[in-house]
Amino acid sequence: MDLEIKKDGTPKYKDVFQRASDFTHAREAKATGMFPYFREIQGVHGNKVICKGKELIMIGSNNYLGLAHDPRVIEASQAATKKYGAGCTGSRFLNGNMSIHEQLERELAVFLKRDAVMLHSTGFFVNLGTLSTLCDAGDYIICDRENHASIIDGCQFSRAKTVPFAHNCIKTLRRRLSHLPEEGGKLIVVDGVYSMSGDIANLPSIVQAAREFGARVYVDEAHALGVLGPNGEGTVAHFGLNKEVDLVMGTFSKSLGSMGGFIAGPEYVIDFLKHTTRCMMFTASLAPAVVGGVLKALELMQAEPERREQLWKNVKKMHEGFRSLGFKIGSTQSPVIPILVGSEVNAFRFSQALFDAGIFTTPAVYPAVKFGQAIVRTSYMATHTDSELNYVLETFRRIAKELGIFEDVAYTGGANSMRSTRYGGYDFKMFNAAGSVEVRTDTGAAVQI
Ligand SMILES: Cc1ncc(COP(=O)(O)O)c(C=O)c1O
Repeated sequence: MDLEIKKDGTPKYKDVFQRASDFTHAREAKATGMFPYFREIQGVHGNKVICKGKELIMIGSNNYLGLAHDPRVIEASQAATKKYGAGCTGSRFLNGNMSIHEQLERELAVFLKRDAVMLHSTGFFVNLGTLSTLCDAGDYIICDRENHASIIDGCQFSRAKTVPFAHNCIKTLRRRLSHLPEEGGKLIVVDGVYSMSGDIANLPSIVQAAREFGARVYVDEAHALGVLGPNGEGTVAHFGLNKEVDLVMGTFSKSLGSMGGFIAGPEYVIDFLKHTTRCMMFTASLAPAVVGGVLKALELMQAEPERREQLWKNVKKMHEGFRSLGFKIGSTQSPVIPILVGSEVNAFRFSQALFDAGIFTTPAVYPAVKFGQAIVRTSYMATHTDSELNYVLETFRRIAKELGIFEDVAYTGGANSMRSTRYGGYDFKMFNAAGSVEVRTDTGAAVQI
């Protein structure tokens, strides 16, 4: 529908679509041939994906244990569809509560040694729904600056005040807590493993501070489930802090190879959330295919600890491999390995060169990370073979040399930190209207390439 235009040719009404018609950057970026997002995956064979008819080694997924394509998981998913149907056509609260949902909640509670668990249709909804339901006006959510977007949005949806602290910095956390009034409810929220830097939260010091200042603790185990802990329970179990951490959330979209998520904690809190979280009550429950697959993946994750052992062998190899080649990979302690490449120009060229060489990665540029500290985010799986990993290291070395990455100011001393602020999306504005690529240098100045 065209909105009415006045005689002088100007629009009569303000159009909410104006923002969309003004948004041309993504299209312009695509025209340059270096657009690294929304890549179409035509097929998956183990660790390889097919894009544009070409086979690539996948080092950009979160399928840490390689369970997403395990035939037993696929079979369980198919069996659940046969038994319960393709979808639940309603929310858990009303007509969509199947026995497999209840079973998965019970099994997760036993696995995590928690009183109760509640499922959500996505991991994003877990954070959005739980934080906005649990915290209200007069409360404080004390949030690591690198927390995932779903946590940030959960804070914004709640009426509580968000109090950010410097990433993994216990000194700032304590300072923030010390300034909050005693009468305000306080919840400290952190990622167990940070999705961009790969850092592990300093949970022992966080729970110590929480105890001193009367705060509850909430840990997002999205990237830690299946990866850390004696049986893959996550960061909380890794540090042996099950009693000290009040609530844990997890996703099924990473190690468990599917989609959806959960919140786990005391019975009375989960019961309250079950009856009040709008993100759960007013959305359709997880499809049987998803729940069937997740149940099987959870079983395999526990029955096959060798997957986690192999994952850590691969991770160690890649940490050491990248460092010995001279790459800066920050303070990662996990399968998420950010490769500092410096300017945005480098990030896009690097990712494209990797793609051309048969490696699938994604770059992260400003404002996902600081100016001049663009990264190529890589992450590893238990199923990657030695020869695949050797090829990745050798290709990174070759491309870094060809692109002069080590001469970039990020390596020569201009940037010595990889801390990022993750409040924005990806910045498409670096491409100008002519279709040529305009990117920022490390100083923030625009240049054409
Ligand atoms: C730390 C963290 N929390 C939550 C989520 C959201 O999970 P999901 O993709 O399952 O909705 C993600 C996803 O990337 C994440 O990295």
